[in-house]
Amino acid sequence: MSNYHIKSLEEYFQVYRKSIREPENFWEEIAEEHFLWRKKWNKVLSWDFSKPEVKWFEGAKLNITENCIDRHLATRGEKTAIIFEPNNPEASAEHITYNQLHERVCRMANVLKNEGVEKGDRVCIYLPMIPELAIALLACARIGAIHSVVFAGFSATALSTRINDSDCKIVITSDGSYRGSKTIDLKGIVDEAMENCPGVKKVLVVKRINSDIQMNDGRDAWLQPLLDGASTECLAEVMNAEDHLFILYTSGSTGKPKGMVHSTAGYMVYSAYTFKNVFQYRENDVYWCTADIGWITGHSYIVYGPLANGATTLMFEGVPHHPDFGRFWDIVDKHKVNQFYTAPTAIRALAKQGAEIVEKYDLSSLKVLGTVGEPINEEAWHWYNENIGKKKSPIVDTWWQTETGGIMITPIPFVTPTKPTYATLPFIGIQPSLMDESGNELKGNQVEGRLCIKFPWPSMARTIWGNHQRYKDTYFSTFENNYFTGDGALRDEVGYYRITGRVDDVIIVSGHNLGTAPIEDAINEHPAVAESAIVGFPHDVKGSALYGFVTLNDAGETRVHDNLRKEINQIISERIGAIAKLDKIQFTNGLPKTRSGKIMRRILRKIAEKDTSNLGDTSTLLNPECVQDIIDNAL
Ligand code: WTA
Repeated sequence: MSNYHIKSLEEYFQVYRKSIREPENFWEEIAEEHFLWRKKWNKVLSWDFSKPEVKWFEGAKLNITENCIDRHLATRGEKTAIIFEPNNPEASAEHITYNQLHERVCRMANVLKNEGVEKGDRVCIYLPMIPELAIALLACARIGAIHSVVFAGFSATALSTRINDSDCKIVITSDGSYRGSKTIDLKGIVDEAMENCPGVKKVLVVKRINSDIQMNDGRDAWLQPLLDGASTECLAEVMNAEDHLFILYTSGSTGKPKGMVHSTAGYMVYSAYTFKNVFQYRENDVYWCTADIGWITGHSYIVYGPLANGATTLMFEGVPHHPDFGRFWDIVDKHKVNQFYTAPTAIRALAKQGAEIVEKYDLSSLKVLGTVGEPINEEAWHWYNENIGKKKSPIVDTWWQTETGGIMITPIPFVTPTKPTYATLPFIGIQPSLMDESGNELKGNQVEGRLCIKFPWPSMARTIWGNHQRYKDTYFSTFENNYFTGDGALRDEVGYYRITGRVDDVIIVSGHNLGTAPIEDAINEHPAVAESAIVGFPHDVKGSALYGFVTLNDAGETRVHDNLRKEINQIISERIGAIAKLDKIQFTNGLPKTRSGKIMRRILRKIAEKDTSNLGDTSTLLNPECVQDIIDNAL
């Protein structure tokens, strides 16, 4: 029997050792016992990081939707697969059973087939967080088409770049989307994008907001009548293990976005196995990840991972502050959510509103809390732990990337003792390494370096769409025989990992390497501070010095700025050392963020360097309006 569900620390260590010593035997057992295959593999793994080429379960045949849907029908047909919570809190939630999901995915798959979509074709999905989004992913997978989801907050230019990069034939969108009290004209954005996308032959439109939109004759079609006319049965295409399942774009540090390509079998096995363990999911639990399916977190941990385990997964269409800042907690209370997975930026925004609003709701159903996407600062961690988890629900700080497909370093709740700001231990099968700048592996504990992974894992991206050389250059050329994550990390005295941030954010001050995350962490502990970001700027003596952009909370707004500057530097001195003190502290009304909530340091770096003539592409910012204000008040 394989150890599919880890239940103790002892078991974790034992299984981890096995997964490292005999990776092929280990993954073979997991794959064999917990998934449905049309044909078994001839070889579990072949790999060569110098090419790079990685293949898992070669020779196997399967369809991921048979694993996510069909195989559950006999035992879980009437179980809820997806709970859809709409933007409008007054509107009732929709419960989609596995039987209904099967029917709806088959219908959508047949519509795609009728439109001429074939195995291997690329389908662009540009939809809000409505059930059709999850269904569209699965429908593509059903017929072997490769989905490329573009987050519905991206602009027309960003959308057309992505559509053209992977030659999508067809786009699935909606007339519009709801976002709190506003609506967004998605179809208008698609129309604008289409001016630059001659390869797109068809745009299928979901009716969501009933807006009055232009339908382009011959190109555009309403989806619902086509679904109504389609059969509820669609045989699953038999896929090879390494056939591409999807493309998902991620921004590179330079140049155009990278279309990360994920394949079928390895991705399925790893996303499902991590889901089960990282969230300790048990039958009848209600699981909620607040991410958008437009990001990897939504692909792996709203759709594929949960459904492959026959779970109930909640999709939320709205935003955390509509109708007020209690919405998340209202949803947890209403649907008795057991596992809640979100981003630190959301936690900080909600913490800023105070704990009173949380107290209105019954959060006693919660068992496990998760975070993802950026380092979580200590203050936010404690707020989450105390006010949401009531110190009873372990927090899993999960480190991973679009490129890794699944969670890589994480506590296992109730198994791994947590430690604020630490992602703790590698997941089963993951072999991290820390490298110094000359490419030597740093062995032992209490070391800090560049985070790499030295052995393949099943869900790693296989290439960048149309540019294998860039894949090799970006990830496999910095450190020989290692996948380079672009992140820095430290390993503490017991072997726990703490992610210190992107290595491009490491600033060398007077010859000392300083990670921005721990400094921001220290600043954020100040009671008047809501959020902060540190960048480097050129300095005569030190080489680089530190510039802090700090947003104050209500408590801070009435304070004298010079006093606050002293206090902030005092905290930094106490937590890290005088070397990490900031040379400049600018108080800001907000920090420029990407739509996934990451602070755009690139822009802040330019402002700190007084080089604002060309700020590069700011079209993906959530709040572009704050940039001019920061420039005007720069120090
Ligand atoms: C960062 C999101 C610290 C990291 C799944 C990584 C994190 C990048 C964490 C990937 C975490 C993600 N702690 N940093 N728990 N999780 N990151 O591709 O820098 O959107 O390289 O994938 O986010 O972001 P991506």
